[in-house]
Amino acid sequence: HGIIAIVPAAGVGARMQSQHPKQYLQLQGKTVLEHSLNKLAKVAAVKSITVAIGANDAYFAELPIDSQFVNTVIGGKERADSVLAALDALEANPPQWVLVHDAARPLVSPADIERLIHECQHHGEGGILAAKVRDTIKRGDSHVQQTIEREHLYQALTPQFFPYAQLRQALRDALTCGATITDEASAMEWAGHPVRLIAGRSDNFKLTTPEDLQLADFLLGQQMT
Ligand code: C5P
Repeated sequence: HGIIAIVPAAGVGARMQSQHPKQYLQLQGKTVLEHSLNKLAKVAAVKSITVAIGANDAYFAELPIDSQFVNTVIGGKERADSVLAALDALEANPPQWVLVHDAARPLVSPADIERLIHECQHHGEGGILAAKVRDTIKRGDSHVQQTIEREHLYQALTPQFFPYAQLRQALRDALTCGATITDEASAMEWAGHPVRLIAGRSDNFKLTTPEDLQLADFLLGQQMT
């Protein structure tokens, strides 16, 4: 059974303060989105990729992307709406499992993706790549109110890997009920499904602010040599 990957790439990237959405910034001679797609294409189990792009996207059509392997759908208002649009588009020929990966995480390691897929399929449960929190974490506004015990805290990364039908139902129901859904796992948790934590490399960060670009460019250069 092939796995289908879904790449939400319909965001505007407001925090990047750039003219272009962050998934279309150029690093090491390619857009961030192309780097992310190339990483997914290195995983043999991934049979095709569905990319959710913005309704007014003017960039995707210009990229040299294999249209046999990569399809597009129009994304939605929030990330979860974009992922649900991609899941809906797969209805005619539904896969058993889907792998959802942020366009804005071009540094992901294919070996981590393979481990995520293997462990989840082995246990028959969905899961996510996650990195242990390194810093001491505070809750507060202008002053610290509380220090959070960090022993059991993880950063949720992507990819996130779930059974197609369960994820679609969970996202649909959670969105209908107005739950706050910032990743696939939050919808699955909301619906009461188990979510495995699979240790992932901490350099798989999401490009968010201008400070992230130089480091991502350097690391991509290292990965490409
Ligand atoms: O904005 P944020 O960094 O959380 O976005 C994570 C990913 O979700 C990005 O790849 C972005 O393009 C995508 N996204 C989307 N549809 C939205 C908002 C974000 O596909 N409405």
